[in-house]
Amino acid sequence: MLLRSALLLTVTLTIAGVAASSARASSATGAPASRRTLGVGDTVAMYTDSQAALGLEVFTAVCSECHEVEDLTNEDFRLNWDNTTLYELFDNIRTTMPDENPGTLTPQQYIDVTAYVLQLNKLPAGDVAFTGDSASASAIRLPLPPVGH
Ligand code: HEC
Repeated sequence: MLLRSALLLTVTLTIAGVAASSARASSATGAPASRRTLGVGDTVAMYTDSQAALGLEVFTAVCSECHEVEDLTNEDFRLNWDNTTLYELFDNIRTTMPDENPGTLTPQQYIDVTAYVLQLNKLPAGDVAFTGDSASASAIRLPLPPVGH
């Protein structure tokens, strides 16, 4: 949990930085600095768009034999994975899928298809690729509140 605390600290410091700069910006007008809490819009980017594009190919070639996109985005899916870590989701896919032949894709294919699942669930892409590294991925929680909540 040390790593998780470190991540939270980083996020907190980043938000503090944003608040500090808006405080500077607003001091001219005398308006109070806005206070922000961590919301979905602040979710850290966990993968890149190009990974998700490669993941779509894996999904189409392998996963779509058994899964509709709906299976990996619906209410049940989000309830199952909300607030688990990125590593837990990745590790689950890597060690249990494809259901009849777990572990048969390349490590990179598992990484890419996990990125695609994140994209399907509207988590934001960024500049830093998901590497499958357990230490960093275990520090990232997945905000997957059921849609509409
Ligand atoms: C041969 C059929 C089959 C294939 C191919 C397959 N899956 Fe699955 N998958 C299942 C079944 C059955 C379940 C539900 C039971 C279970 O968890 O084992 C499942 C469950 C899952 C879950 C958990 C869903 C939830 O609601 O929590 C994820 C995530 C997942 N699969 C991802 C994938 C990905 C990604 C691929 C492609 C790499 C894939 N699956 C390929 C049959 C398959």
